[in-house]
Amino acid sequence: MGWTYFAIWFLFATVCEGWRLPRSDPLMYGEVQSPQFPQPYPPNLLKQWDLSVPEGYQIKLTFTHLDIEASAGCYYDALTVLSDKKVLWKFCGQENSADGNHPGIQPIFSPGNRLTLIFQTDDNNPEIHQNVGFSAHYQAIDMDECSGPDPEDGSGPICSQICLNTLGSYLCSCHNGYELRPDQRTCVLSCGSGIFDEPEGQLSSPGYPGPSAHGLSCQYIISVEPGFTVTLNFTDNFQIESIDTQQGHSCLYHWLQVTIPERDPMKLCGGKSPGLIATNSNTVRLDYHTDGTGLSHGWSLGYSTHRMKCPIPGGVAKGRVTPVFTEYFYRDYIYVRCDLGYKLMMDGREITSYSAMCQSNGQWHLSLPECKIIDCGEPEPLLNGGVTFISGSENQYRSVIQYHCNEPFYSLLGGVNVSYTCAADRKWRDNHDVPVTPTCIPVCGKPTKLITGYQRIIGGSTAPENTIPWQVLLSVAGDRGGGMVVGDRWVMTAAHNLVQGGTIMKKEVLRVYMGSNNALTLSKASPANVSSVHVHPGYNNPNHLDYNNDIALIKLQHPITFHASIMPICLPAEGVTYSTGVMGLVSGFGITRENNTEKISNMLKHIRLPVVDQGTCSTSINEVKKTENHVPSLSDNMFCAGVPEAGKDSCQGDSGSAFAMRDDGRFWAAGIVSWGVDCGVPGRYGVYTRVANYLDWLNKTMQEN
Ligand SMILES: *[C@@H]1O[C@H](CO)[C@@H](O)[C@H](O)[C@H]1NC(C)=O
Ligand SMILES: *[C@@H]1O[C@H](CO)[C@@H](O)[C@H](O)[C@H]1NC(C)=O
Ligand SMILES: *[C@@H]1O[C@H](CO)[C@@H](O)[C@H](O)[C@H]1NC(C)=O
Ligand SMILES: *[C@@H]1O[C@H](CO)[C@@H](O)[C@H](O)[C@H]1NC(C)=O
Ligand SMILES: *[C@@H]1O[C@H](CO)[C@@H](O)[C@H](O)[C@H]1NC(C)=O
Repeated sequence: MGWTYFAIWFLFATVCEGWRLPRSDPLMYGEVQSPQFPQPYPPNLLKQWDLSVPEGYQIKLTFTHLDIEASAGCYYDALTVLSDKKVLWKFCGQENSADGNHPGIQPIFSPGNRLTLIFQTDDNNPEIHQNVGFSAHYQAIDMDECSGPDPEDGSGPICSQICLNTLGSYLCSCHNGYELRPDQRTCVLSCGSGIFDEPEGQLSSPGYPGPSAHGLSCQYIISVEPGFTVTLNFTDNFQIESIDTQQGHSCLYHWLQVTIPERDPMKLCGGKSPGLIATNSNTVRLDYHTDGTGLSHGWSLGYSTHRMKCPIPGGVAKGRVTPVFTEYFYRDYIYVRCDLGYKLMMDGREITSYSAMCQSNGQWHLSLPECKIIDCGEPEPLLNGGVTFISGSENQYRSVIQYHCNEPFYSLLGGVNVSYTCAADRKWRDNHDVPVTPTCIPVCGKPTKLITGYQRIIGGSTAPENTIPWQVLLSVAGDRGGGMVVGDRWVMTAAHNLVQGGTIMKKEVLRVYMGSNNALTLSKASPANVSSVHVHPGYNNPNHLDYNNDIALIKLQHPITFHASIMPICLPAEGVTYSTGVMGLVSGFGITRENNTEKISNMLKHIRLPVVDQGTCSTSINEVKKTENHVPSLSDNMFCAGVPEAGKDSCQGDSGSAFAMRDDGRFWAAGIVSWGVDCGVPGRYGVYTRVANYLDWLNKTMQEN
């Protein structure tokens, strides 16, 4: 079809070129007359006419009149008609003259599109002749090339199959199943070439099952949707000429070449059918070639298409690949899930989910991931404690750890030895699935070392190291006082240590020392810095006569890490009683007031004193009031301790230090050394702040600050 269009265009183009070519435009018709016609022509003439019509036409020349002196062979006067320098005719005479040669009334035709007329007359004409010459008209008429003779070059007929005459030209065309060769004359069997995009089809060599024509160059392209593969199925009837060489047979002159993208082309020939060829590609090109000789019987094939297959994905350790099929095709998806306690990893990074698609090229678009055991990360470090691995390693799934506190100074809040397991959600969880939040709380009132031996009164005995670890030495603007550690950031003392002249001392003038039973050692150590001072709001003692509410708290800037020489004393339990005669342990650095001079002991002293009946104590104080002015009063927020027979040591101790009672092996702060009258005098007792009355204030103050 394409060639036909091409041929028409080609010929028209040629014709158009022809019109434009020569010296003068060829005419479609015209007239030629001898000189002076219809008068007799003169002698000694030699006149030439060159007639031409467009290419593809011939000239039809018709004489309306011809009267030239007749002579044998038109020897004297003649009208010679030539085509291509070849004499076609020589005319003379009249229509009925015996001599000469007259064209008659039948027109004459030129073989081509040109004709030359030459009119020649002689001079030796004795009588005046009366011949008038000739008159003719010509016209271009279409030449029927198809019925013309075969070209003289011996190349066969002008058209090998069908010749169509056209105005001024001709066209060759072919019978059904053939196509015109590029020479525009000859026909070959049609290849049936083209693009085949149906999912299945049939192809065969031109003329199959007849032998293939010579000079074939046929191309067939099978091209189906991406994701599908083409399979060729050659029939058994296969024969393409092969040439036997030493290396075997070779597809030298005839072949069918199968080209699959990204693979070396295959040349097929010989007498054995290739059978099935699975191309694994969605496009295949077939080129069938024959040369000018030889014999091939051709070939035939059916092709079919299949969805592209991807390789079986295989397995993932500690994971599952779904769905499980025996074969996976283009557009199938697979998913991977890890077992509980394992996570998806891809290229060293964790991914939340994995899916891969079988692509049109037969490859999975992603390689398989890995399942790696999860880990819960390093367990949170525990302040004042630590963690022990019970089983497993590297914090991996199902590893078991156990927290512990640095005993005996700390204990785990909410029990001991709870183990935590690394769970699938990557949290350390206890047996009740509670995420880990252990806390170490300080152990109070349990010194690592106890004062041994029992004496009712041990006056001024030095306390061994670590036996009273809550003891605090205070320095307030140079004055000394005592205190006790009650929490990792809290020291309890007497209010009167911190209030002078009705104003609370600034925290900057406070020094808090602890951790040794040697005051000298302590004073050389660096003190713990104070963050805030909290004096009981009910303390109001401008004249040193009212020691009610003699209690205060000091908050430290940094929490204390407890150890053998610094430990807190417990606060009183709710509803405790202070029974008369119960012994308490009073300690201090022996700051005593004797003869109005202060005497300071370097070493921490301690003494055991019993609680005195409140009435007895009150009576004792009232007795003093009878003889002395400026004696403070006893209130319910105070209690007394001491012995009536009394040595001078009975009121030893620093203001602010603890009166510690011991229950169930724990020391608790029953009192704070507050005041006394006439220290060392028989029948006089030391007075202590009754701490149990201040639990709410203590709790509130410590919570709010
Ligand atoms: C190939 O074609 C033949 C018929 O020509 C048929 O019998 C055979 O099943 C085909 N093979 C395949 C795999 O399609
Ligand atoms: C608690 O754990 C510690 C060490 O981890 C061990 O010595 C102790 O016996 C355990 N206590 C109990 C009650 O299991
Ligand atoms: C306590 O305070 C002083 C001065 O304000 C400072 O030099 C010192 O470093 C502090 N000590 C601690 C343990 O923060
Ligand atoms: C205190 O004074 C008394 C009498 O005034 C005296 O006997 C005693 O030795 C003095 N004590 C001290 C430790 O100086
Ligand atoms: C302190 O107060 C809190 C709440 O205000 C309470 O839960 C806690 O038991 C109190 N502690 C004491 C020792 O009173």
